[in-house]
Amino acid sequence: MNILLIGSGGREDAFVWKLSKEEEIKKIYVSPGHDGMTRFSKVTLLPDQSAEDLKDFAKDNAIDLTIVGPEAPLTQGIVDIFQEDGLRIFGPSKRAAQLEGSKIFSKNFMKKNGIPTASFETYDNYQLAVEGLANWPIESEGIVIKADGLAGGKGVVVTKNRSEAEHTLHDFMINPEISVKSDTILFEKVLPGDEVSVFALCKGLDSFYLGSACDHKRVGDNDTGPNTGGMGCFRDPSWPDKSLLKKIEERILRPTLKGCMADGMAYSGFLFMGLMIDELNDPYVVEYNVRLGDPETQTLLPLLEGPLGLFIKEFIDNGTTSGLSLKDEASVHIVATSGGYPSLDNNPLDLGHKINFKEEGVFLAGVKKNPDEDGYVNSGGRVLGTTATAKTVDQARERAYELMKEISFKGMHYRSDIALKKRGAIND
Ligand code: AMP
Ligand code: GLY
Repeated sequence: MNILLIGSGGREDAFVWKLSKEEEIKKIYVSPGHDGMTRFSKVTLLPDQSAEDLKDFAKDNAIDLTIVGPEAPLTQGIVDIFQEDGLRIFGPSKRAAQLEGSKIFSKNFMKKNGIPTASFETYDNYQLAVEGLANWPIESEGIVIKADGLAGGKGVVVTKNRSEAEHTLHDFMINPEISVKSDTILFEKVLPGDEVSVFALCKGLDSFYLGSACDHKRVGDNDTGPNTGGMGCFRDPSWPDKSLLKKIEERILRPTLKGCMADGMAYSGFLFMGLMIDELNDPYVVEYNVRLGDPETQTLLPLLEGPLGLFIKEFIDNGTTSGLSLKDEASVHIVATSGGYPSLDNNPLDLGHKINFKEEGVFLAGVKKNPDEDGYVNSGGRVLGTTATAKTVDQARERAYELMKEISFKGMHYRSDIALKKRGAIND
């Protein structure tokens, strides 16, 4: 089999690591990838290019399966473009990708299909939104304000402070100096509880559970500092437990797949369910993502046993769900970033420094070849991460930090409390 993989981060590095081990897979082309991926002999890097050009490449190079890492190509319709020519690609259609691409689309979808989520109001007029805010019990219950559309994690504010809520609304709808801009705005009730992300491989009404992970989104220890793409993750095999997973399947996963089918946008691809679990152990959807997470993928792929590429191909073609299994173990992944990350107000990152590392347990992300000698220098915000798996979260945590301590580069930063607090750690 020949694979085409789209993306360039740590998530895609984990895919390459996993797929490289499969005997059936001969070649893995990655667009655009990063220099570090060439440490795997099956990998060839391709330039970043349009979906049409990638499709032509897939046709000319006998690609058997295309896997898409990030959301942007999916929301732009790469799956529809490949499927027009009968190519095998794993991901949702442009329409179904709106479950991530438009928060309002996804909230309306959940409402229509009876999927538990926070109640909400939408506004496409600033004055009406200001009035809506005036009537909202912000001080007692808090409010979540969301800009519609993809905003790279910057389009959501949760607050109990009225003045912050008013400023956020003005920023998202009016202020030309703020990069997040949206004509439509969403107010949501604050969901209390513990946050967890649950992953499934889906096609039509068929699905395969890929595990769960808890992300740490703030840049600093104890959930302080600005939001990031994710500073580290853990999977606890004992939570969500079986009874909670059953509720998630019955109340969220199945109605989601049925709803997509009923709306003529049968879902294919990875589904990332961002959930809040309340004190009654009931799950609510915070968000859908139509892909795997970064760094959740680096946490979960080391727990998967069996050939993932072949599994996806057979799953797409025949709905087969044998040959892959999730180890009943814990996993912890820690991200190391460049100095200056997450680079607010376009402050420059501290880049170009030599990275000292051993390959064991390391996934590379924002790296490029060192122009002066062998090895790599840091070239992006999230530079690399370490993953360890073990029987318990504490054991995996200890090992992941041991691996991290063997790595160094100038300006390097990582959190010291990943997976420390277990449940609830990430509900800031
Ligand atoms: P989103 O981009 O919708 O995932 O929101 C980003 C983060 O904001 C989530 O991971 C949650 O931590 C938080 N959040 C979003 N919506 C809610 C909500 N209704 N209640 C509580 N927290 C929320
Ligand atoms: N780590 C969160 C995400 O990939 O969306």
